[in-house]
Amino acid sequence: MTYRSVGLESMTPPDTSPDSRGAAARPRTGDETFRAEGISKVYETGDTKVHALRGVDLSLYEGELVVLLGPSGSGKSTLLNILGGLDQPSSGTLYFRGEEVTAFNPEELTLFRRDHIGFVFQFYNLIPSLTAQENVALVTEIAPNPMRADEALALVGLDHRLDHFPAQMSGGEQQRVAIARAIAKNPSVLLCDEPTGALDSKTGVVVLEAIARANSELNTTTAVITHNAGIAEMADRVIRFADGHIISVERNEHRRSPEDLTW
Ligand SMILES: Nc1ncnc2c1ncn2[C@@H]1O[C@H](COP(=O)(O)OP(=O)(O)OP(=O)(O)O)[C@@H](O)[C@H]1O
Ligand SMILES: [Mg+2]
Repeated sequence: MTYRSVGLESMTPPDTSPDSRGAAARPRTGDETFRAEGISKVYETGDTKVHALRGVDLSLYEGELVVLLGPSGSGKSTLLNILGGLDQPSSGTLYFRGEEVTAFNPEELTLFRRDHIGFVFQFYNLIPSLTAQENVALVTEIAPNPMRADEALALVGLDHRLDHFPAQMSGGEQQRVAIARAIAKNPSVLLCDEPTGALDSKTGVVVLEAIARANSELNTTTAVITHNAGIAEMADRVIRFADGHIISVERNEHRRSPEDLTW
């Protein structure tokens, strides 16, 4: 087992000036969590090649919340999946706290995902035959440093739904269970791919509040993909994609609370 837990300095990549990564982009938050350098992804199906990412450079910092915007097909999910170790780039290098993720073998990649990454998807992917608490406990049982399932559910405002099955909950409640499941293992990173995509805006706000709270209380580096530009105001930084490129990175001077957002 060559996987090493975080905090080792030996593989810290060469220093790169913040300016080269977009000075406006430098947040007020902590150390570098991710550094992506020249990430490209080409999907080959039969004779056709799809360039999903075309050389993406990006750093994400500890405790920050970024929102990823961009048209359908611009590469947002592809990047999120690569950051979370669900997919591998065709070229480029990804570092997590100085360790080269792109050099991990499959077993190391599995441990990296298990120990550090929480995912939330558009469709909640809960297990129908398990209660809210059991859905969350499924993850805490295998995590090295978990919170209790009921604590995680309380954090997303669902302490009164512990024994409900997914079919007995609204879409927003199910998505909050999915968020509780993602954060219950105390991940350093929370990656959300259109978490409000299937919800009306009022329910979406409650879900975004749960994400913002997990971000600020647990200090997780958080990335949220959305098609609603209005959501961008809850972010520290807004990253825009087009055609496999990052076309802009902007910093919000003030993060707005999800309840003040309109979309
Ligand atoms: N497994 C795959 N095989 C082939 N092509 C793929 C695959 N996954 C994604 N693509 C292609 O890569 C491009 C980027 O896809 P991606 O899912 O990253 O876009 P996106 O920005 O998340 O879009 P959306 O907003 O619609 O979710 C698209 O053209 C898509 O068709
Ligand atoms: Mg997508």
